[in-house]
Amino acid sequence: MQKLEAGVAPANVDAMLQREKDLFVQRHPKSRELAERAKAHWAHGVPMHWMLDWGTPFPIHVASAKGARLEDVDGHSYDDFCFGDTGSMFGHSPEPIARAIAEQAARGLTYMLPTEDVAIVGELLAKMFGLPFWQAATTATDANRFVIRWCRAITKRPKILVFHGCYHGAADDTFVRLKDGKPIHRPGLLGQVYDLTQLTKVVEFNDIPALEAALAPGDVACVLTEPALTNIGMVLPQPGFLDALRAVTRKHGVLLVIDETHTISTGYGGYTRTHSLEPDFLTVGKPIAGGISCSVFGFTAEVEARMRKAEAENPSGYSGMGTTLSANAMALHAMRANLEQVVTPAAYEHMLPMSQRLARGAEAKIKARNLPWHVSNVGARAEFVCAPEQPKNGTEAQAAMHPRVELAIHLYLLNRGFIIAPFHNMTLVSPATTADQVDRLVATIDGCLAELVT
Ligand SMILES: Cc1ncc(COP(=O)(O)O)c(C=O)c1O
Repeated sequence: MQKLEAGVAPANVDAMLQREKDLFVQRHPKSRELAERAKAHWAHGVPMHWMLDWGTPFPIHVASAKGARLEDVDGHSYDDFCFGDTGSMFGHSPEPIARAIAEQAARGLTYMLPTEDVAIVGELLAKMFGLPFWQAATTATDANRFVIRWCRAITKRPKILVFHGCYHGAADDTFVRLKDGKPIHRPGLLGQVYDLTQLTKVVEFNDIPALEAALAPGDVACVLTEPALTNIGMVLPQPGFLDALRAVTRKHGVLLVIDETHTISTGYGGYTRTHSLEPDFLTVGKPIAGGISCSVFGFTAEVEARMRKAEAENPSGYSGMGTTLSANAMALHAMRANLEQVVTPAAYEHMLPMSQRLARGAEAKIKARNLPWHVSNVGARAEFVCAPEQPKNGTEAQAAMHPRVELAIHLYLLNRGFIIAPFHNMTLVSPATTADQVDRLVATIDGCLAELVT
């Protein structure tokens, strides 16, 4: 008998992959035609190469999306549980955002000068996340890059530390992994000409002794981490880990940067507020301005004072931070509407039970089919992982990934009108997601599992 893949017979995976790919092609003639046409002038036929990473024979081309539904150019409707990988996780085009965009569009989009919204958005961010000072950038990647630069400037230390399996955007310093306990470049990097491992240390998540040893030499400016790793399946912090992380970083004079770009799903104010974390910096992008490109980073009063000191000690000139469209008027106006009217405590009151319903529903179906899998939640984010135990670190999480099984499931779901994240088995729910949508997804997952385990 062939070795099982995540508890599933490989022949069943092969059969599902073949059938679902064929079905996908049959069902999407217009998307196929547009994908072919785009190849004439877009490298790989798409404006951003990740758009090919869905594993489909060609990308679905979208006609429109509203709330928790999305329509493609072939006339198919989807229940969206991926929401642009978090960029629209509070729903597609919520009314307050659509209104704010129209308002600002009528009075200019970018001036490299502040507007009335600036003071208000600062107050809203401070209220939501509990940090007194803020700066804006255009993407979460940029927010992380700028924060790393600030951390080096104020500590005068050269190195940073990240956890194995992390993802913080296209921020060069973070592209380091562990292989057999040794730091290496993240596989697949293009054009990497200098050795990132010289200035970036990497240890396993949930491993305090390794962290302590890496920080002890006193050359690390900051630890940059998500409070739960969400980009390598899902790795939750073990009890006491985040407290120990804070204590050890303080002990060694290392700044703690919490990236809330995905874990803003946890609750109002993200994981930081929900679990009373005490970061020196907090970064967040993606959904913060309702789907308009914008990110922000917040910091403590102590850090702000150290930033001023570093600036005063530095000759004037270009800081290496900031881009022309950062904090443009449109982004700030959309962010104000988003924080005032969309990302509210009431929104989370709907989202969290809905995600629990999805997670517990999927878990029951997995159990009933005797599959060695589990489901984890970080608030409105739920992930089913094709392994029996919750992974403790990036290495275990990587071992729990079964790309063929996952792709078969994704294609099955897409062909039946459900979008979940393409890179792993992540689902998001929005304030617009209904219990009916969740129940339909759970029932369809069950149909898929039934075929896989026969
Ligand atoms: C935790 C985290 N931080 C930062 C980023 C980068 O976001 P962006 O690609 O919008 O710059 C991502 C993207 O997936 C992320 O998951």
